[in-house]
Amino acid sequence: RGPLALQSRVDGFNVFPGQPTPLWHYAGQWEGHAIANPVLHVAHGQTLQVSLDNRLQEATTVHWHGLVVDEANDGSGLHPVEAGMQRAYRIRVANRAGLYWYHAHPHQRTGLQVHAGLAGLLLVEDDEELALRKRLGLQWGDRDLPLLIADKQVDTANRLVYRSGADDWIGNRVLVNWTPEPFLEVVPGLYRLRLANVCNARVLRPAFLHEEQALEFHLIGTDGGLLAQPWPMEDLFLAPAQRADVLVDFSRLPPGARVVLRSLDYVPMENEDESGAFAPDPMGDHPAAEPMGAGLDLMQFCVAGCGDDVRGNGGRGAAGASGSRRAAAIPASLSSLPAPPDTRGWPVRPFRLHMDSQGAWFINGHNFHRDGHAPAFTVKRGTREVWELRNAMTSMPHPIHVHGVQFRVVERRISPQDVRSRQVAEGGLGPQDLGCNDTVLVWPGETVRIAIDFDQPFDGNQQYMLHCHNLEHEDMGMMLTFAVT
Ligand code: C2O
Ligand code: CU
Ligand code: CU
Repeated sequence: RGPLALQSRVDGFNVFPGQPTPLWHYAGQWEGHAIANPVLHVAHGQTLQVSLDNRLQEATTVHWHGLVVDEANDGSGLHPVEAGMQRAYRIRVANRAGLYWYHAHPHQRTGLQVHAGLAGLLLVEDDEELALRKRLGLQWGDRDLPLLIADKQVDTANRLVYRSGADDWIGNRVLVNWTPEPFLEVVPGLYRLRLANVCNARVLRPAFLHEEQALEFHLIGTDGGLLAQPWPMEDLFLAPAQRADVLVDFSRLPPGARVVLRSLDYVPMENEDESGAFAPDPMGDHPAAEPMGAGLDLMQFCVAGCGDDVRGNGGRGAAGASGSRRAAAIPASLSSLPAPPDTRGWPVRPFRLHMDSQGAWFINGHNFHRDGHAPAFTVKRGTREVWELRNAMTSMPHPIHVHGVQFRVVERRISPQDVRSRQVAEGGLGPQDLGCNDTVLVWPGETVRIAIDFDQPFDGNQQYMLHCHNLEHEDMGMMLTFAVT
């Protein structure tokens, strides 16, 4: 309640043992406390008021990823906040409950600034969410926990390193909530984990492994909030910018059992031309990063009763967590979210994703740097459209993000086997496709149709971005402006 003052600035933080790490962050000033990248809570219908005071040496913004906003409050690179300047954002929150996020979005510097630390989480609540929380008996911050997952390139002096203009910046260290090799002691019960992929470029494939066996978990929500029903899964693909709300039941494991949250290996399908081919770049003396698609441990859990020996860096006792050996039943119905709409008769707007022989990425032949920032097309307010995203065969997986809306995935065609095997509904849709989303992963050769209802409650001409959320692709121009009018 009331305006929150954020300062974008650089401070040193003890992320790794040894020297502190300088991080670019949003310093929250609230009732006399300073909190770096605060987790913001807002209720549906409430007005979010945030001011940004830019203390960096260069322009930045705060973009409200996933929120239905007007252009002036979107925080995209169309409205940079120059060094030493301030800007106020005011948003009446129209979104469903869910985990959203905020991050820097200046043209050509988004990858660098997000990697350096300018990103935080935003939790939206509504009545449906509060009712579910009550039924599950899980409290936010206790057994309902956000996991902000980001890989960083870290040098031997604990500094984050980034090179602008590089393809796909993947990290040599993975942090969860800014903690390396995190460990959490859990009670033998049900937990709700809100996974957010805040990596610049790395697609994750999270799974919970107990003695190398995948534990079944339930997907209950996606980018834009709760699904209609829970879906049992053993792993899922989580692309940069995507969120997954999952329930994990530790109640059937013996005391002392360890569970690893691991990103499983997968075929990365980075089959682009030589010109843009990715080469892991050890940059001087830092350890090389695991390549895209390689298995990666993200976090460890231990069911209460583990010995002190496993209490490593970031360890947190389960003593504070309200424990019960019996897991709460997972409700068969989670929310009133309707099924994806029947889009027969809706106009279809095609988009082709491809790379040219110089290694530049394009959306419909449009590159943001080459072709400028003027809107590439205009959508009439109040209309509904199908956007057909067709990825070239010689390409990479592109997490495509649309500003200012939540959309529904309505069809996948020519999907890779790993995607087809997850189909649970007509149109090639997997469980994650059945929710509201703001970012959708389109694999090489695949065609994905999304349905968008442009019913935003704003007037006049509003300009938004459509881009790949692989931040290096975005910064290299795989982005365009569109107008809603
Ligand atoms: Cu999360 Cu245009 O960004
Ligand atoms: Cu966004
Ligand atoms: Cu891309």
